Amino acid sequence: MERARIRVFDTTLRDGEQSPGCSMNVREKLRMAHQLDRLGVDVIEAGFPIASDGDFEAVQSVSASIRRPVIAGLARACTPDIERAWQALKGASHPRIHVFLATSDIHLKYKLRISRQQCLEQARDAVRLAKTFCQDVEFSPEDATRTDTDFLCRLLEAVVEAGATTLNIPDTVGYAMPAEFGQLIETIQHRVRGIERVTISAHCHDDLGLAVANSLAAIAAGARQVECAINGIGERAGNASLEEIVMAMRVRPDLHPYDTGVLSDQLYPTSKLLSEITGVSVQPNKAIIGRNAFAHEAGIHQDGMLKNPLTYEIMTPQSVGVPDSTLVLGKHSGRHALALRCEQLGYQFERRELDEIYRRFVILADKIKTVEDRHLLELIREAREQAQRIPPGHVGELPLAIAASASAGQTRPSGAYFSKPLATPLPADSKTSELPLSKVEQHGEQEDYLWGV
Ligand code: KIV
Ligand code: ZN
Repeated sequence: MERARIRVFDTTLRDGEQSPGCSMNVREKLRMAHQLDRLGVDVIEAGFPIASDGDFEAVQSVSASIRRPVIAGLARACTPDIERAWQALKGASHPRIHVFLATSDIHLKYKLRISRQQCLEQARDAVRLAKTFCQDVEFSPEDATRTDTDFLCRLLEAVVEAGATTLNIPDTVGYAMPAEFGQLIETIQHRVRGIERVTISAHCHDDLGLAVANSLAAIAAGARQVECAINGIGERAGNASLEEIVMAMRVRPDLHPYDTGVLSDQLYPTSKLLSEITGVSVQPNKAIIGRNAFAHEAGIHQDGMLKNPLTYEIMTPQSVGVPDSTLVLGKHSGRHALALRCEQLGYQFERRELDEIYRRFVILADKIKTVEDRHLLELIREAREQAQRIPPGHVGELPLAIAASASAGQTRPSGAYFSKPLATPLPADSKTSELPLSKVEQHGEQEDYLWGV
């Protein structure tokens, strides 16, 4: 079956940059744009040229130096904005003017103070003007999801007639629910005359945490462009996260049979670059690119991961550019991971010996958040010293000195996150494929399973 191609419109440098703490200067935007090009996005929205001289310059230099993707510049539906956008974009090999105007009654009444009819005419005239400069014109009815549907369809029809080539439907305030947003895209597809000549696009915000779900619903309903940002940055709660949309399609082609031009192994390097440039890091549990997205602390999970990563990972870390899965030694860890880390540090233990190390480890891990290599080495040394001094069977003192010296609050202490020895590659369908047996699994005893965690 032929898979539809979804255009990825990246707005990290425009909507993303508008979020507090994420502003970028010209040099930084250019650096980021080169990485977005490497990532394979179809459209880079480089900025809002009328907003500042810096933004104008950024759009101009991205246009001059990034030649493969379409470069878009934002403009309100008015002459000065559109002219300024074109001045910044005209050097691009594939320029796009992105015109927007709010259409919901709330925005018309309180923000723009114009009638629906005035709004429709302004949108149509703005697209006509943009079209005199550039073939590729995108129109966005801001706050589309809170706009009267009949009026929205009438206005969209007018801008298609005026020459818009992409109709972007923004859920500006992150208000829509997935089924409802999908329904809106379907309605637009059925009701707007001339819609077959244009690309429908979705632009979702994450105020209710639904931006990615809404974007996927829009694609399922017929949208063929999706607007999103690296690390999900954007106004307020952010835009739909590019990495999550791309990987949802890649991991579940059974439900989302679409292709994008994105090279998924560039996702993590792109995310890291953005954090480095803005100084804004992502939360550790952020899907796909967060520090803990491929880290395992619970003993049962670590045991499963060491036997076969299919047990707890639905994609390989390498597929998104993360070097490897990691195991973390904390109070939830088990003997299996502890034994592995000890081995990696050069220590192999008999089962009884490891039981003693593990007993001490659990008490220590209860006191400190993560057990680093230096704690582990000291713990081993203490256990060995005690074993030489004390007859077998005697319970030794606990390593309180280690607990006292442990530094709390470090983000990623040395040796706290470590890799397992061999990553078993994931087959295409991680649900049904046969699992290769590792040495540990071949042991096959329930007692071993319980001991392992
Ligand atoms: O969220 C929004 O409505 C926007 C438009 C400018 C597309 O960012
Ligand atoms: Zn937006």
